[in-house]
Amino acid sequence: PLVSTGELVSAAQARGHGIAAFNVITLEHAEAIAAGAERAGAPAILQISENAVKFHGGRLAPIAAAAAAVARTSAAPLALHLDHVESVELLHQAHETGFGSVMFDASKLSYEENVRATAAAVAWGHERGVWIEAELGKVGGKEGEAPLDAHAPGVRTDPDEAAAYVRATGVDALAVAVGSSHAMTERTAALDHELIGRLRDAVPVPLVLHGSSGVPDEEIRRAVTASGMVKINVGTALNTAFTGAVRAHLAEHTTGVDPRKYIAPGREAMTDVISHFLGLVSGTAR
Ligand code: G3H
Ligand code: ZN
Repeated sequence: PLVSTGELVSAAQARGHGIAAFNVITLEHAEAIAAGAERAGAPAILQISENAVKFHGGRLAPIAAAAAAVARTSAAPLALHLDHVESVELLHQAHETGFGSVMFDASKLSYEENVRATAAAVAWGHERGVWIEAELGKVGGKEGEAPLDAHAPGVRTDPDEAAAYVRATGVDALAVAVGSSHAMTERTAALDHELIGRLRDAVPVPLVLHGSSGVPDEEIRRAVTASGMVKINVGTALNTAFTGAVRAHLAEHTTGVDPRKYIAPGREAMTDVISHFLGLVSGTAR
């Protein structure tokens, strides 16, 4: 069934679990998330990023409708979330296209501008019952971005500033920069668990880890169970698995033109990765 991000995040936090959110680019990503969640016996969040909307010609409605239909017909509780929205115009399409939650990303702006833009997004969202996540600090690594120095001032999230930011904006969840980076294809990121613990103590809303594809299993487990990280965002790991399986299939089968033949193993490889991450964060690891 289709449920809301807010209820999944609150339920996970109350149980001391995490909730994983996976990026949807194609219909097959959404199908893999549903299959992985059913296999793991865990809920999950399907998130569509502004970059994915750009890939679909700037049209949000078709991919959103597909993801929502997959969620509605699944046996697992699945929520729909709009991810890394920088455009206010796209934010304002969230409600009419069935999104109960949005990550509004003003992290590239100065602190003051980030507060102003995010407070306006929260005011818009809360008038319509839309749950809003925002980012303070810089996770970095997104497509087209210059590489970041993870230790430079203003990159990692400062706990006192984070507390003031949440007070000033009224956000429902906060994405923090604590050592992960987007789009890593190797799982070599080291998290600052001491900083995550200080952020958890300073900030009254659930914390969100972006760029989780590059974070090793043990680091994710520790961030969730010991340090209090709640929403765990995973994108690239799905694409690494999908593309690897498609490449392997095509290398072995050099004739034939039916895309179902190579997309099916790609979708199955994503399902494996999804059920693994769900087991890791929701305490059902097998
Ligand atoms: O918002 C999406 C996530 O932060 C995904 O990051 O592709 O590095 O796993 P990732
Ligand atoms: Zn992200």
